[in-house]
Amino acid sequence: MNQSPSGTPLDVESIRADFPILSKVLHDGVPLVYLDNAATTQRPRQVIQAMVDTYEQHYANVHRGIHWLSDQSTDLYEEAREKVRALINAPSREEVVFTTGTTASINTVAHSWGDANVGPSDEILVTEMEHHSNLVPWHQLAQRTGVAVRHVPVTDQGTLDMEAFDGLLSERTRLVAITAVSNVLGSINPLDEIITKAHATGALVLVDGAQSVPHQTIDVQALDADFLAFSGHKMMGPSGVGVLYGRRELLDAMPPFLGGGSMIRRVRLDGYEPADLPAKFEAGTPPIVPAIGLGAAIDYLNAVGLDSIARHEHDLTAYAHQQLGQLGSLRFLGPPPAEKSGIVSFLFENNRPHAHDIAQLLDRQGVAVRAGHHCAMPLHKRFKVNATARASFYLYNTRAEVDQLAEALAGVQQVFRRRRRG
Ligand SMILES: Cc1ncc(COP(=O)(O)O)c(C=O)c1O
Repeated sequence: MNQSPSGTPLDVESIRADFPILSKVLHDGVPLVYLDNAATTQRPRQVIQAMVDTYEQHYANVHRGIHWLSDQSTDLYEEAREKVRALINAPSREEVVFTTGTTASINTVAHSWGDANVGPSDEILVTEMEHHSNLVPWHQLAQRTGVAVRHVPVTDQGTLDMEAFDGLLSERTRLVAITAVSNVLGSINPLDEIITKAHATGALVLVDGAQSVPHQTIDVQALDADFLAFSGHKMMGPSGVGVLYGRRELLDAMPPFLGGGSMIRRVRLDGYEPADLPAKFEAGTPPIVPAIGLGAAIDYLNAVGLDSIARHEHDLTAYAHQQLGQLGSLRFLGPPPAEKSGIVSFLFENNRPHAHDIAQLLDRQGVAVRAGHHCAMPLHKRFKVNATARASFYLYNTRAEVDQLAEALAGVQQVFRRRRRG
């Protein structure tokens, strides 16, 4: 892979050569057009190789052995933590906790911080555009503690209703839990404004970075975020690893969520003392090799440059709106391309053909898109639809692939027009 200095166009062909799966030929000899990156991304050889090398040369359990191999794998695991720290500009490595993914990170905050800090007179503020991972843990917290969960509505354009946010934010709000980028609409939320206002009323802010950390620069100190959650598999890393960043004084004050090995300083038959950060939140054997793979994915992201990736995805998104818009009968959900991330959700008028039929017919042409509610049922309900089709881009996608999507969709449209006539 060639290095691309920040802001220069990507050398997409050389990037694609790093991803073995992208040259796959599917059923009927059609090449794979992978446009399901919001669900999960593909991995370059460098990430796969880093994990193979670890298993072949350096693998043992971490922080436990007094032997050479254990030291090696511990060093690699902690180097990966340092790469995460640098990526999000966390003040210290102790504030970077490895989890199994965004869902586990948010659940950790809901249990550990939530159970200790909220009650019936408090409120948690979420938004109508959240992924179920940033809704259900708060509903469960409400069941346990009586805290009220309020939600900020979404405008017809697919942006957050900031006037409503101002009205809902109050001294009762203990936490605002919000996604940086909607996994359906692609909307980019105004985190600076939200965090400043939340802090002014004394509320904390948890940022769901699942759809932003892989695509844009997120600096937790510049943002002044209290918690940040994201997943390795959405940023070219393996599944099974994710990150919870939390400000040190918050993590220090929070009781551990899971109990077991590694998270303790001392155990007696009648009690225990928790370990220091970050071990306190990493009970049991952690995702050692996935974390090392995530470190390699961060190296790859840095070599390409997040600014260049964001620019490339904006270009593909604008091009997709232009090409798909020519079909005439598509309805897009979310703001115009200039105001969003590389996610394009759409449906045909009256949802005929249904999003699932679209995805199945596109699959025959090798085009992989997602269909359904994308784990955002309340958002789909708000737009009075039960399903959409979603194309989502990453650094290795091309305009030619967008053309293939548009051509395949034109084919779907024709098939259904013929069926209706016949
Ligand atoms: C915005 C958002 N939050 C949370 C998640 C959950 O991520 P994971 O399944 O990796 O825990 C996703 C996954 O699609 C997402 O898009």
